Amino acid sequence: MPKVTLSVIKADVGSYVGHSCVHPELMETAEQCLDGKGKELLIDYLVTHVGDDLVLILTHERGTDHGEIHELAWDTFMQATHKARQLKLYGAGQDLLSDSFSGNIKGMGPGIAEIEFEERPSEPVVVFLADKTEPGAWNMPLYKIFADPFNTAGLVIDPKMHRGFDFEVHDLIQNQKIVFHCPEELYDMLVFIGAMGRYSIKSVYSRTLNEMAAVSSTQRLNLMAGRYVGKDDPVCIVRCQSGMPAVGEVLEPFSHPHLVAGWMRGSHYGPLMPCSVHRSTPTRFDGPPRVVALGFQLCHGKLVGPQDFFADPAYDEARRKANQIADYMRSLGPFEPHRLGLEELEYTTMPQVMEKLAERFEPID
Ligand code: F6R
Ligand code: MG
Ligand code: MG
Repeated sequence: MPKVTLSVIKADVGSYVGHSCVHPELMETAEQCLDGKGKELLIDYLVTHVGDDLVLILTHERGTDHGEIHELAWDTFMQATHKARQLKLYGAGQDLLSDSFSGNIKGMGPGIAEIEFEERPSEPVVVFLADKTEPGAWNMPLYKIFADPFNTAGLVIDPKMHRGFDFEVHDLIQNQKIVFHCPEELYDMLVFIGAMGRYSIKSVYSRTLNEMAAVSSTQRLNLMAGRYVGKDDPVCIVRCQSGMPAVGEVLEPFSHPHLVAGWMRGSHYGPLMPCSVHRSTPTRFDGPPRVVALGFQLCHGKLVGPQDFFADPAYDEARRKANQIADYMRSLGPFEPHRLGLEELEYTTMPQVMEKLAERFEPID
């Protein structure tokens, strides 16, 4: 049985109106491109969006980091950019940092999460997509899903989960990685993953099944570009059931909207609001940040789905709570902790203002 690869690749290649949504014609353009050029390469695909990010969910048998798959995604984003330019959409081509493809889409702007596995007799997966935030936004939910018995009953009850999970954590500033074995190294890991702007959970492995259970995109566009391009709106894939967390355990952390960086100008903290694809159109103060969860059953690589989980009324209270938190955070205006700390503002437009004033600072006697 050949292994299946699930590749989730996203980019903001122009949006409407402002930074709030992907125009339907861009989605159509992407579909046409994948239908044509993707015929030979893909088993299946879904084009969707979260806020202003165009998302390609692809299945194939070429494995992760495959040049042809990445090139297909790149070409698709290029064609969508062309359409965005025709429509004069906002920020056309924003996340594409080069004019030509260089072999691997990583490092070229788009965010990517890929996982390769032997499809189980039944293979439920959840694909998370977020807008107006950064890769560290997954740290708390992934911690809860795979390490917190108050969230995930399976860690206590399921013999296939009781040994715990390994977490690969990336230091996005120093460009290094480390694996934590949990539960015994939980406290060590928390020292790092609590700093969401720098450390990011890249992947999680089941210690019993010896398989990858989750993977996230950790690309930080602003670090790659060395300037503010927008936030690094991330994606994440989680496999569920039969020794992996149940779908309900995977969705549970999002019932409590946590604070993430990336709201307005990538410079503010705000609550991560769970919502349907249809409602992932950030408005208020360009937000609040959104997360969408799409469920699929894989069937020989075919994407059976999606089920748009956060359309469920069970998340109404989380949205209400997010709105209340948003009210409170907004009341702080330009003050921390609504606005990010100075260090984190380094990759926004703020340094230009500071540079202008640098000469006017004098020593205090
Ligand atoms: C946040 C975001 C928006 C923009 C804001 C200013 O990630 O995308 O909040 O930062 O609308 O956009 P520009 O500078 O393009 O006018
Ligand atoms: Mg945008
Ligand atoms: Mg975006």
